[in-house]
Formats: sequence, C-alpha cells, structure tokens
Amino acid sequence: MRSDFIWMNGELVPYEQATVHFITPTLHYGVGVFEGIRCYSTPKGPGVFRLGEHLERFLDSIHILGIQNFPYTVEDLRQATHLTIRENGFKECYIRPLMYLKGPMGLNLDRSEPQVGIAAWEWGPYLGEEAKQTGVHMMVSSFTRLHPNTNMTKAKISGNYVNSMLGKTLALRSGYDEAVILDPQGYVAECTGENLFMVRNGVLYTPPAAPVLEGLTRDSIIKLAADLGIPVEEPMITRDQLYIADEVFITGTAAEVVGVRAIDHRTIGPGRPGPVTRKLTEAFTDVIRGLSPRSDEWLDYVDLKERQVAS
Ligand SMILES: Cc1ncc(COP(=O)(O)O)c(C=O)c1O
Repeated sequence: MRSDFIWMNGELVPYEQATVHFITPTLHYGVGVFEGIRCYSTPKGPGVFRLGEHLERFLDSIHILGIQNFPYTVEDLRQATHLTIRENGFKECYIRPLMYLKGPMGLNLDRSEPQVGIAAWEWGPYLGEEAKQTGVHMMVSSFTRLHPNTNMTKAKISGNYVNSMLGKTLALRSGYDEAVILDPQGYVAECTGENLFMVRNGVLYTPPAAPVLEGLTRDSIIKLAADLGIPVEEPMITRDQLYIADEVFITGTAAEVVGVRAIDHRTIGPGRPGPVTRKLTEAFTDVIRGLSPRSDEWLDYVDLKERQVAS
C-alpha cells in the first residue's frame, strides 16, 4: 500500500510522514468517514471511476455523521485526488479519502476539528483475479447489518466497518470467501463490502436501497442492465431466494463484479459465473477500460503531463 505521497489537509506529505497522533478521537471511537475509489488505465490516461459521485457520497457521509465544519468542497477534493494520482505517477490505483477528527478526547462531535487525507496505492481486485473466473463461496452471516437507527447505513462511517470486519473474518475463518449480511428484519441486505444481485428467469434483482450502502458499482450495474435491455427489480430478498437463483453476483469498488458459485454449500445455478453475470461484467469492464459509450460519462481523466513534485 506504498506510494510516494499522501495528500493531507491541503498538501502532499511524504508517505512516512503521513501520521496521526495517538490522541485522535477517530482512532478511539471510529468517528471517521471514508471512501473507496478506483482509477483505471485507459487509452486517454488514468481515468477515475465516478469520482464526483464518490466525493459527493463522501460529503453526504460527513453530513450524516453530523459534522458541521468540514471545509472542503467536491471540487477541492477532486483536484486533490488528481494531484495525488499524478504526483505518485500512478496509471491505475485504488484511492482512499478519509475524514478523521482531531480534538480533545470525549464524545462531543462539536469539539473536534475535521481533518482529511487522500491516499492511493496500486491494488488488484479485492477477492482476487481467480474469483472472477470461478466465482466465490459465501456464507449467510450470523452478524446482522446495522439497524438504520444504530449507525445508519448510507454513510461510510469507519465504525460501521466493525460489523463488516466481524462478518468477513468469520467467513474467512470458516472457509468461505465472503459473507451475505441480512438486515435486522432477516432479509438479504448486502455483503461486508459489496452489494448483491441475483438473476432469476432473466430478471435481475437487488435488495432495495434502504438498508444498504448505495454502491456506485450497484448503480452502474443497474444502468448497464437497462442499456442491455435486462429488466431490474428491487424487492425484498430472502436467503432461500438466493439458494434457488439462476445466478448471484456481488459488486463493489474494491471487488468490482464477482460471480457467486455457492452460498451455504448450495450450488448457485451452474456453480460458476452465469451468462448474465458475464454479460454485465463485460459491459462494466468495457467502461473502466475506456472502451464503452459510458466511459467518458463515468471516467474522470487525470492529466499526467502536469506532474510537478515527483520525478
Ligand atoms: C457495505 C458496503 N456495501 C457496498 C459497497 C459497494 O459500494 P461501491 O460500489 O460504491 O464501492 C461497499 C463499498 O464501498 C460497502 O462497504
């Protein structure tokens, strides 16, 4: 996860110096907000996927958390993201903005001062390249997604990811690749860091937006499905509906689009990524590689020629 620089509070800081103090409220209470964004190598140079919308979600998360004095706009953060990619010389990378709180210890958000950093590093697909070919095996987790009145699910608040880490670690220790997390009512919500889709009789289904993070990959897949004439619905989904689906796949910035071969030892459809999963994966890959009519709409290109700091 190395790079030359991390952007912190308005300037590029050498990697080793990008540190925070032990007495930092975010470290103790999980009151931070983050984003996960990817930049892809394209014929027009590095293209950041849906950068403006990721940064809007970042500011929305900060707003949901109730921070009232965050000083940066989407455009400020967009410029900072471009600078970080450019000065690190990356053609393709994962980008991690984080808002963290500096201030006295205690549980009053209004006494803290928001700080922000943007790191970037070269990072392959989160679940591995092979998983994209074979599909993953998931378990339905005994951990439940956060109730909307607990931590809220529309914000990428750092502390929310304790729930995700519990689910992910239990899945891995139990021999699975990922976990399906149910909502507090027992319906399918999402995975630990991905949204979930299923296909049955030619229709694409995904759980409604209310209890899940509104993933930008989820939104992209819904739009690409519409482009391809695949009907999409957002009903409540139960775990046994997943078991009898023709196909299941999961989506996220880190994982991208990954088919599911089994859930709780029930083979899903053919036991490998099915035709609709493959069609949508192909359409998504064309977009991020700059080869789709959607590419210019969804990629924010970085001009590497303006590079100044690093040699
Ligand atoms: C809990 C959760 N659900 C879904 C997603 C997928 O969202 P996106 O496609 O915007 O990365 C993520 C990743 O950010 C996540 O953490």
